Amino acid sequence: MAASSILLGVNIDHSATLREARFRAHGGTCGGVIEPDPVTFALYAEKAGADSITIHPREDARHIRRDDVRRLRAVLQVPLNMEMACTADMIAFAREIRPAHVCVVPESREEVTTEGGLNAVALRAELAGLTAELAALEIAVSLFIDPEPEQIEAAAAIKCPYIELHTGAFANAYYDLSARASEIERLRKAAILGHEAGIGVNIGHGINYTNVRHVRDLPHINEMNIGHSIVSRSLFTGVDAAVREMKRLIQPEQ
Ligand code: PXP
Repeated sequence: MAASSILLGVNIDHSATLREARFRAHGGTCGGVIEPDPVTFALYAEKAGADSITIHPREDARHIRRDDVRRLRAVLQVPLNMEMACTADMIAFAREIRPAHVCVVPESREEVTTEGGLNAVALRAELAGLTAELAALEIAVSLFIDPEPEQIEAAAAIKCPYIELHTGAFANAYYDLSARASEIERLRKAAILGHEAGIGVNIGHGINYTNVRHVRDLPHINEMNIGHSIVSRSLFTGVDAAVREMKRLIQPEQ
């Protein structure tokens, strides 16, 4: 594979969404059966070449439960990336789990999935504290932010090792060619700015098997985090084929 190879982080949240659709009222299981088990999904993804596994234990545990994170942490070989809100409770949970990466996301109960980027400018003091605290535990923090210069400048001031640029606006604009072009340009400028500030640049949200070819040639991309599209395709092809195909598609052409 080329030296510029992009890493694939597989977000497994929606395998747990499917489980919760049947078992939510029963604490995630009836009599010990977990179907589908998000940990098994993660292990299949790992075997197929996922470079990391992402999970988002939300405050309302709507998909990933805390016990899923504990079980996953015990068996996963590749780095675990835990998305979390910047709250005292989640920081304590990160201390317990010690994932390789924490990606700080905004969280609101009303949204179905993470809709907007974090306001790193407004949360600068809290995020600086969190980044330093987790760095001392060898947990690298990433901030999930919109591709806006002031957000990247805030991440640099906080001394955050990574940012994850929110690709949701790009994905939503995909079928409007001029809006798509301007979203790609926004991401391109943000990736360059992040790189020049010495920050590792990841991207994620809404990337799928069709639109991925328009973001894989962005400069300086370290990792793509992709969930919904991979979990959806897995229903038809199995996890192995779904992950392998995405891993092939994320690689830049040049
Ligand atoms: N990155 C972050 C920070 C997310 O919160 C999510 C899920 O909302 C993703 C990536 C994956 O998004 P998707 O499931 O649309 O691929």
